[in-house]
Amino acid sequence: MKVGILGSGNVAKALADGFLKHGHEVMLGTRTAAKLAEWAAQNPKARVGSFADAAKFAELAVLAVKGANAADALRAAGAAANLAGKPVIDTTNPIADAPPVNGVLKFFTNLDESLMERLQREFTGIRLVKAFNSVGNACMIDPKFKGGRPTMFICGDDEAAKGMVGKILGQFGWEIADMGQAEAARAIEPLCMLWCIPGFLRNDWVHAFKLLNSN
Ligand SMILES: NC(=O)c1ccc[n+]([C@@H]2O[C@H](COP(=O)([O-])OP(=O)(O)OC[C@H]3O[C@@H](n4cnc5c(N)ncnc54)[C@H](OP(=O)(O)O)[C@@H]3O)[C@@H](O)[C@H]2O)c1
Repeated sequence: MKVGILGSGNVAKALADGFLKHGHEVMLGTRTAAKLAEWAAQNPKARVGSFADAAKFAELAVLAVKGANAADALRAAGAAANLAGKPVIDTTNPIADAPPVNGVLKFFTNLDESLMERLQREFTGIRLVKAFNSVGNACMIDPKFKGGRPTMFICGDDEAAKGMVGKILGQFGWEIADMGQAEAARAIEPLCMLWCIPGFLRNDWVHAFKLLNSN
C-alpha cells in the first residue's frame, strides 16, 4: 500500500519505519524537508515531500503532527481534495501548552468534544480512524510485552477505513478494540494522559494497555 504520512516527528518516523518494514511504500510530508535529511539518508526507499505531496501519494494517510496544529497541517495538505475519500489514521493528541500537573497532561479539548471529532467536522470528506495515540512511539511497531499482544483502541465513523487500519495494526503486532464511532475519541484521546503518567512520575515509558475479556 502507498502510505502518506503527514509529519516529521518521532511518531511519523516510527510509523514510517514500521510501514517500510512491513513492505509498504512510504512518503513523509513536512514543511521543512531538511529536518528529515538524516532519516531519509538512512531510509533510501522512503520519499519525502510537502504535506500536499504526501496526501496525494497516499492510499492510506497518517496524521502525525502536533495536536494544536493538526487542522493547519490538513489544510496545508489540501485535504479536501488530496485526501478525499481516503482512510486517515489520526495519531494526534490535543495536548495543551501548559505543563503537566503531578504528571497529568492538560488537554485543550473537553470530554464532550475530542480533537478527532473537530477534525472530522471540518474535513468531512476524509475517513479518520483514531489509532496509535495511546502508546509511545518506541512501542508502536511489533511491541514485545510479557503479557502478550497489547490492545490498540480505535474508533471512527467509517467501517471500511477501520477495517483497513485494523489489518495494519494486526501486521504491526496489535490486538484491536473497536470502540465505535468518532465520539469514542473523547475516551481514547485521554488514554494518552494515563499512558504518560508513569513516564512523568517515574521515567517509565515502556508499557501499553491490554483489554481483558471473559471469552
Ligand atoms: N511522541 C509520541 O510518542 C506520541 C505517541 C502517541 C501519539 N503522539 C501524538 O502524535 C502526534 C505527533 O507527535 P510527535 O511527537 O511525533 O511530533 P510533534 O512534535 O508533536 O509534532 C511535530 C509535527 O507537527 C508539525 N507541526 C508543528 N507546527 C505546525 C504548524 N503550525 N502547521 C503544520 N504542522 C505543524 C510539524 O510539521 P513540520 O514537519 O512541518 O515541522 C511536525 O511534523 C502528536 O499529536 C502527539 O500528541 C505522540
